[in-house]
Amino acid sequence: MTKQLLLLPGDGIGPEVTGQVRRVLDALDLDIETGEALFGGAAIDAEGVPVSDETVARALAADAVLMGAVGGPKWANQPYDKRPEAGLLRLREAMNVYANLRPARCFSALADASSLKRELVEGLDIMFVRELVGGVYFGKPRGIEELPDGERRGLNTHQYTTSEIRRVARAAFDLAKGRSGRVCSVEKSNVMEAGLLWREEVQRLRDQEYPDIELSHMLADNCAMQLVKNPKQFDTILTDNLFGDMLSDEAAMLTGSLGLLPSAALGEPGKPGLYEPIHGSAPDIAGQGLANPAAAILSLAMAVRHSFGDERAAGRIERAVEAAIEGGTRTRDIGGEATTEQMGSAIVQSL
Ligand code: NAD
Ligand code: IPM
Ligand code: MN
Repeated sequence: MTKQLLLLPGDGIGPEVTGQVRRVLDALDLDIETGEALFGGAAIDAEGVPVSDETVARALAADAVLMGAVGGPKWANQPYDKRPEAGLLRLREAMNVYANLRPARCFSALADASSLKRELVEGLDIMFVRELVGGVYFGKPRGIEELPDGERRGLNTHQYTTSEIRRVARAAFDLAKGRSGRVCSVEKSNVMEAGLLWREEVQRLRDQEYPDIELSHMLADNCAMQLVKNPKQFDTILTDNLFGDMLSDEAAMLTGSLGLLPSAALGEPGKPGLYEPIHGSAPDIAGQGLANPAAAILSLAMAVRHSFGDERAAGRIERAVEAAIEGGTRTRDIGGEATTEQMGSAIVQSL
């Protein structure tokens, strides 16, 4: 049956990298129907909101949604609900995609592009499972208040419930079964009640239902350090929304560039997934043809795997990206001079 893919190019380098995703889709010749909608700053400019109700409805009706990137200086002084980023948060919440898979794999050909020594990163294969629709990103109360003494207070609430923790932990344990079976759960249970509950509930679920999972716990500050000291100690890292955001950007540099890391955000089985490169709109290089499209194209591979159930095609896309890089085509972020378009061409040719 024809699968429906909704593309949301977004802002900055978003349209540049999703343009290359389209070329890969055309070359693959799969039974996929592709639609497109405005999103982020582009939607604010044209429609007055970062994501329209209609776009949310189209996303919920699709089999998968692939987003480029949102945000940029043009919209950075708006109140929060009028920002491109708010559109992304609304979409994640509406789709209820609570488990964000962010794989950080180091291609052997790129081990020298990493900020770390080759022997520390060669063969690296970490799967982050980041909680995506809760925690401090969504907790209430939130806002900026004027206090009587003339001070202002910025307020955000970090919170997790038992069920929010258990469903994402389940996703991590299920994924880890197909990997090494090792899960490291990361929080700050030493200073936060929400972190303590996280640790207790993750351990409880493991003891109740996943006796074969080898579960360890680590404080987030130590994890940030360990990722740079000895990243290959990790297999699956389960963590909350904010720590997962930061630790996955950190891990990107272990693989060579932020422009390489894809992600899949999944909810309940049968519901559409949301796929995005983990990088942003990169205003510093936008419009110059310098962006690496690999993260977006690898996100398409994750969509093909998780939402379209086509493991063969997903593997083909992943091997094509690796082959293009091995063949020497590299954008500037990974030490080359290729343009976004040339990188896309090399990947399409490798298919
Ligand atoms: P960023 O990820 O956009 O860029 C960080 C650095 O990485 C920049 O130097 C950029 O040039 C580089 N980079 C990122 N992607 C690249 C690629 N594909 N190829 C080559 N280099 C790449 O982060 P930022 O500068 O902190 O944020 C810019 C805007 O993007 C902000 O508005 C932010 O909110 C937004 N943002 C959006 C997303 C998203 O849409 N999912 C993610 C992160 C940041
Ligand atoms: C990401 C981004 C987003 C996040 C922003 C743009 C809302 O940084 O996808 O990693 O913080 O989740
Ligand atoms: Mn991020």
